[in-house]
Amino acid sequence: MKLWGGRFTKPTNQLVEEYTSSIQFDQRLVEEDIRGSLAHVRMLGKCGILRSEEVDTITNGLQRIQERVLAGEVEFSIAHEDIHMNIEKLLIEEVGTVGGKLHTGRSRNDQVALDMHLFVRRCTVDVIQGLTTLRQTLIAKAEDHIDTILPGYTHLQRAQPVRLGHHLLAYVDMFGRDVERLQDSYKRVNTLPLGAGAIAGSTFPIQREHVANELGFSRLYENSMDAVSDRDYLVEFLSCASMIMIHLSRLSEELILWSSEEFGYIELDDAFCTGSSMMPQKKNPDVPELIRGKVGRVIGHGVSLLTTLKALPLTYNKDMQEDKEGIFDTVDTLMGALALTAPMIEGMKVNKEKMRENAEGGFTNATDLAEYLVTKGVPFREAHAVVGKLVLHCIERKKSLLELSLQEYQSAHPLIEKDIFTRLSLEVVTDAREAGCGTARVRVVEAIQKKEKEISNERHWIKHAQT
Ligand code: ARG
Repeated sequence: MKLWGGRFTKPTNQLVEEYTSSIQFDQRLVEEDIRGSLAHVRMLGKCGILRSEEVDTITNGLQRIQERVLAGEVEFSIAHEDIHMNIEKLLIEEVGTVGGKLHTGRSRNDQVALDMHLFVRRCTVDVIQGLTTLRQTLIAKAEDHIDTILPGYTHLQRAQPVRLGHHLLAYVDMFGRDVERLQDSYKRVNTLPLGAGAIAGSTFPIQREHVANELGFSRLYENSMDAVSDRDYLVEFLSCASMIMIHLSRLSEELILWSSEEFGYIELDDAFCTGSSMMPQKKNPDVPELIRGKVGRVIGHGVSLLTTLKALPLTYNKDMQEDKEGIFDTVDTLMGALALTAPMIEGMKVNKEKMRENAEGGFTNATDLAEYLVTKGVPFREAHAVVGKLVLHCIERKKSLLELSLQEYQSAHPLIEKDIFTRLSLEVVTDAREAGCGTARVRVVEAIQKKEKEISNERHWIKHAQT
């Protein structure tokens, strides 16, 4: 007999049962479901809706079920459709008919909303924790490489020299925005939907504040219809997750390029690479490649949920059961990627000489030569043309700008003097970018200190967040 079987005269068609059940995947919410039920039943007791012996019996029963689940002794059944009805059924088996009082003043519609809020709240904090650890790792690497200089690229062509520390700190800021976005969406995740009932609220004198206090929710939904049909917080989570995966894929792409023979900038740790079954010489960067490859599924889950929600009339519709698998897969994909990226960065070996050689060889100091002429009063456009010709001269002679003679310089422009040789060195070129957010050594050192402070604020936030 189904929990809702009273109105029916026939058993459910087997295919319908299989098609409509969600227990196969929503059993992942078992802890949240029991936690929410415990808070609900205690509230029913406090409000005088259930007697205290009833509350005790139900509470003990739920706790025993929790233990049996943890011990792996419980088998869920698709005949009971979802996690909510499976638990209720188990409770009635455990404590008898009084177990049937648990669902007083509650619907699965506000119950499933509560479970998902609890689940995503925990995951939001876990993801922030993962981001903070990754940021910390990147900062430590940046600190080791304040004085490592490589070519910065635009259009994947060598552009201007940058400090590797500066390059890595760009990712620290990207992941920092991801933390901010999650912290903002956390406010909406941390809102209690229970008490909305099926759609219109409760006829019992429930006090939602008791549940909110017990479960640590800082806000309550203000409209029962919104409470049961809101899935915005899930879309927000998927959107934050997509952005993080995109950031991880950009970092991964650089690790892949940099560890190629052609670049030769880094070597990934053996423990994080795999070999080829045929070519004995191969050491493949499978991990960053897979992270790059897994972005698609996370973005896909976001698009999928948006599409499910589009044009859904208020309030709960069964379509919404489709919100769960994408969220679960996103959490697993994202947490896996974060957990691997940090140690991969930590363990990578940097080939400083190769980076320097490429920075020196690629005319990355050409802008500085033009700007040198500008400081001598030459209009920038004219200086640009002079340096362009000189670069061509170098290419024809297979020389870098630093390898030219003073004579060659002076025949390109008479205002160039011998101080040009120090002015064009990589250290001077990077340190000249001292204004604002530039790559000068002082700015990088200063940025590292600022980021350390952000990390300690994040750790403080995590410590005080409700999960
Ligand atoms: N399994 C359902 C879901 O995940 C729970 C809510 C069902 N409510 C209902 N009235 N059928 O969405």
